[in-house]
Order: sequence, then C-alpha cells, then structure tokens
Amino acid sequence: MSHSLKNLKLKIWRQKGPEDKGRFETYDIPEISDEASFLEMLDILNERLITDNTEPVSFDHDCREGICGTCSLMINGQAHGPQRASATCQLHMRTFKSGDEIVIEPWRASAFPIIKDLMVDRSAFDRIIESGGFITAATGGAPDANLIPIPKPVADAAMDSAACIGCGACVAACPNGAANLFTAAKLTHLNLLPQGQAERFKRSEAMVETMDSYFGSCTNHGECEAACPKEISVDVIAMMNSDYRKAKITNRKTLSRT
Ligand code: FES
Repeated sequence: MSHSLKNLKLKIWRQKGPEDKGRFETYDIPEISDEASFLEMLDILNERLITDNTEPVSFDHDCREGICGTCSLMINGQAHGPQRASATCQLHMRTFKSGDEIVIEPWRASAFPIIKDLMVDRSAFDRIIESGGFITAATGGAPDANLIPIPKPVADAAMDSAACIGCGACVAACPNGAANLFTAAKLTHLNLLPQGQAERFKRSEAMVETMDSYFGSCTNHGECEAACPKEISVDVIAMMNSDYRKAKITNRKTLSRT
C-alpha cells in the first residue's frame, strides 16, 4: 500500500534545565511517513541529532498506547495536538500537511515546572493523590467481584472517572492552570462507589485543599474537558464541589464529637 511522505518544519522548545531561560529551535524533518506516530517522528529527529553529536530532545513517554498519561506535549497551542480524545502518542503524521510548521512546547503551568526541554514535573498530582486518593480496606483474600452490589449507572459513572490517565492536559489547557478536572475525576471515581464511602468526606476535604495549594482556581472555562484525551466531563467538578461543601459540615460535626 502506498503512503505519502511529508516535509515538515518543527519549532521545538529547548531548555537545558529548570534554571535555563529556554528558547525555540527549528528543525527540518524531511520525508516523514503518514503512518509514523508523532512520537516516532520525534524519535527520528533524535536519532539524527545523536548522529550529529547534538543533544536529543527530552520528552516523556512510556506506553505509547494512550494508557499511562506520561506523553504530554502542547502541539500548535493544543494540549495533545489537534485530534480530539487522544493522547500525543495516539497522534499520527497523517493529521498534518506537507510544508506545515509544527510548534511543540511542554505543558505550561506554574505547578508543572519544566525539568528539561519538553519534560515537566507533574508530582503536584502525586501530592493530591497522597492526600486522599485511596480507600482503606481490610487485607486478606480478594472478595468475589460481585459480592458488593453496585447499580449499573453508578458503576458506569465511576468507570468514566477512572478513565483519567493523569496526563495533565486539563491543567495545561486551563487559562488558570487549575487541576479541578483531574482532582474531581480521582475523587468521583472513589466517592461514587460503596468502597469509597468510609473516607468520602475526609478525602474530599483533603484532596480539594491540597489541589488548591498547588494549582489555580476553576472559573468554568471548560477547556479541560475539550483537551482531555479520555473525554472526562466537567460534571465531575460539580460533584466534587458538592462533596467538598458537605465535607466542610460533616467533618466539623465529626471533629466536635471526638
Ligand atoms: S505514552 Fe502513555 S499515554 Fe502516551
């Protein structure tokens, strides 16, 4: 089967380290196959740079299947590029035209400091998860899958939230650098299920307040939902806000009884 080859120009953000000011550098990429993925195209560039004794471009990637959430590029100003509902690693060069100039930047958010080139430090997400993104369950043998009955709509909604891969596109796309979609997805996933009820309000208060200490505030732009490779709905933010309000009352009552 024949497939076309494209000549592209890449404008890539290069930054030696967190203290470096950084700058764009331009690279010509000739004869890239339509069938190459975006990350394969960067691999080809890096092989060339290494052959030329030049520092390759650092970028994050792991599964290359839209599962792990590590790939994180701002492509022509769009988190994960122009294709809806996909991560950078799922983007193919057939999306671009020969002669295109493609601007590639790291996530831009003050809570995600740049480590090098296109790699950012997303450990602020880990701080949110550490504060409440878990359940306490008695250890022992795994219970049968259907032992706890869960209504289908609830299981479906929890699964939709669990689809979050923690890539950070929501933060990068948000004009305020807010992490509400990420936090709400992680919170809703647990708060909807019976197993998540024991810590529901402790979790809601802790995760929202940890989020607030690192990230900007949500002002309902909705850019997060548009950028999310898993199409997680902003509805989860409404549930998070509701649970946070309830938590402020419930936790105060619980504390006054102890
Ligand atoms: S590399 Fe794993 S989601 Fe893209």
